[in-house]
Amino acid sequence: MTTMTTTTTGTTVLDASGVTMRFGGLTAVRGVDLTVNAGEIVGLIGPNGAGKTTFFNCLTGLYVPTEGKVSYKGTVLPPKPHLVTQAGIARTFQNIRLFANMTVLENVLVGRHTRTKEGLWSALLRLPGYKKAENSSRERAMELLEFIGLADKADHLARNLPYGDQRKLEIARALASDPGLLLLDEPTAGMNPQETRVTEELIFAIRDQGIAVLVIEHDMRFIFNLCDRVAVLVQGEKLVEGTAEVVQGDERVVAAYLGTPFEGAPGADEVAEVEAAEAGAAAAAPPADRTPAAPTPADEAPADQAPAKADTTETGTTRTEEEEEDNR
Ligand SMILES: Nc1ncnc2c1ncn2[C@@H]1O[C@H](COP(=O)(O)OP(=O)(O)OP(=O)(O)O)[C@@H](O)[C@H]1O
Ligand SMILES: [Mg+2]
Repeated sequence: MTTMTTTTTGTTVLDASGVTMRFGGLTAVRGVDLTVNAGEIVGLIGPNGAGKTTFFNCLTGLYVPTEGKVSYKGTVLPPKPHLVTQAGIARTFQNIRLFANMTVLENVLVGRHTRTKEGLWSALLRLPGYKKAENSSRERAMELLEFIGLADKADHLARNLPYGDQRKLEIARALASDPGLLLLDEPTAGMNPQETRVTEELIFAIRDQGIAVLVIEHDMRFIFNLCDRVAVLVQGEKLVEGTAEVVQGDERVVAAYLGTPFEGAPGADEVAEVEAAEAGAAAAAPPADRTPAAPTPADEAPADQAPAKADTTETGTTRTEEEEEDNR
């Protein structure tokens, strides 16, 4: 890329505070605070279902958080995806979202539209202003493809690209909106070690362009190599945050990944309640060797114990198709 932005390291780019997202009875994200500073690459890790993608969706206006607020460079963001993109936050998706039947270049041009002033009529009537804007958009898109290493495939259909290239194209499309912060949701999922290494270098290069990065990944080697800071989400709560060393040295993180219970673990209170209710029900049940001829009161589950389990599994929330796709 020819444009070089210099940013003062240390100023806060993203400030999310007290972000909570509930779906019916399920709290997917609970009171999460997270900042990303200029010049930083921050990692967000956690077991499957920890709430990482949901948190991204709250940051980018796809979900309206139940509680909390998200600021970008000191301004509170309205929870509308196009306004968030316009403000300067771009993202990629866990499940690749490209226009499969468009070319590589066209996909990047789509990502560019938030930064072009020319409107629909201008495009349809091919007014001179549009032509000029289109030329400069194309130039910029080609620059990005060069940067990402896909310039020689600019006229290939997106659906014909190998998987790793599709992930890179998603990044190029996100960069086309000239963001100040890039959110990456599992950018190396499905990549081989060689492609992962290339992506690592690419993210460093993006950071060097003055774009702060927040990245979700399950590949720990990748995360700890790349990130200045890592936050760990477990059952929707931020458990630990710090340098790779701090996070790797925290035994609660290992326990959370292995599913080992530990004192004060997020969700531990609920688990204890369910276990207590189960123990109560078992104590009230008749001994196994006595088969009662008639129902005893113990057979009718006490009203305060029976629903305890059901509450933990039913959210009662329906998802939209788009949300479903993002969470597959
Ligand atoms: N729209 C929704 N409606 C109901 N529940 C949802 C919705 N979106 C997410 N969830 C639930 O919220 C929890 C967190 O899911 P999320 O996808 O954010 O996890 P994740 O950390 O990204 O997991 P993974 O590493 O597997 O991608 C899960 O229990 C999920 O089923
Ligand atoms: Mg996810």
